[in-house]
Amino acid sequence: MTIIILLLLAYLIGSIPSGLWVGKIFYNTDIREHGSGNLGGTNTFRTLGKKAGLVVTIMDILKGTAATILVSLPFFEATNVHPLVLGILAVIGHMYPVFAGFKGGKAVATSGGILLAYNWPLFVILVIGFFIVLKLTKMVSLTSMILSAIALIYSIIYYFTIDNDWPLIALILLLSGFIFYRHRSNIKRIKEGTEPKVKWI
Ligand code: G3P
Repeated sequence: MTIIILLLLAYLIGSIPSGLWVGKIFYNTDIREHGSGNLGGTNTFRTLGKKAGLVVTIMDILKGTAATILVSLPFFEATNVHPLVLGILAVIGHMYPVFAGFKGGKAVATSGGILLAYNWPLFVILVIGFFIVLKLTKMVSLTSMILSAIALIYSIIYYFTIDNDWPLIALILLLSGFIFYRHRSNIKRIKEGTEPKVKWI
């Protein structure tokens, strides 16, 4: 029973639709009706501005972190569930949230939150990498997909030089799959040259 509560909790944490709630509560705006229609930090930035975008991005990151560390709580410790399983459930909740008609975000920030809990140096590299790659591409979507590749390269180097952490490689492969799948419409727009570019960097 405890194990079911734990897995469900991880999914429910991921399901918190930060973009929807922040938009509706503080701006009386449903961000799904604006911009890309995506329930994520980028579309919140685009629709509601920097402050709201930052808050939603941080909330989305923390969902991944919170779910990943759930198993360290005394109540759940005995379940021995791998923390990454919980992080992945949070990402699934973020993409398909029960609290928002199963239409959620594109997995990027919440995936980052798992890494913050599981391998923080990789998280720091990706945050720095995000600003460098975004400066070059001006597209958050393309940047997010390039970061998946950077994370994969890091996890392979990490495996051969520091620790044989194959679950990290498996995690990155799975999350990259989620990220590319959820960016199908962006990939189409990038190919057509119609993907929106950010101006603030
Ligand atoms: O994190 C999502 C981002 O990569 C793309 O968002 O709103 O431009 O489709 P959006």
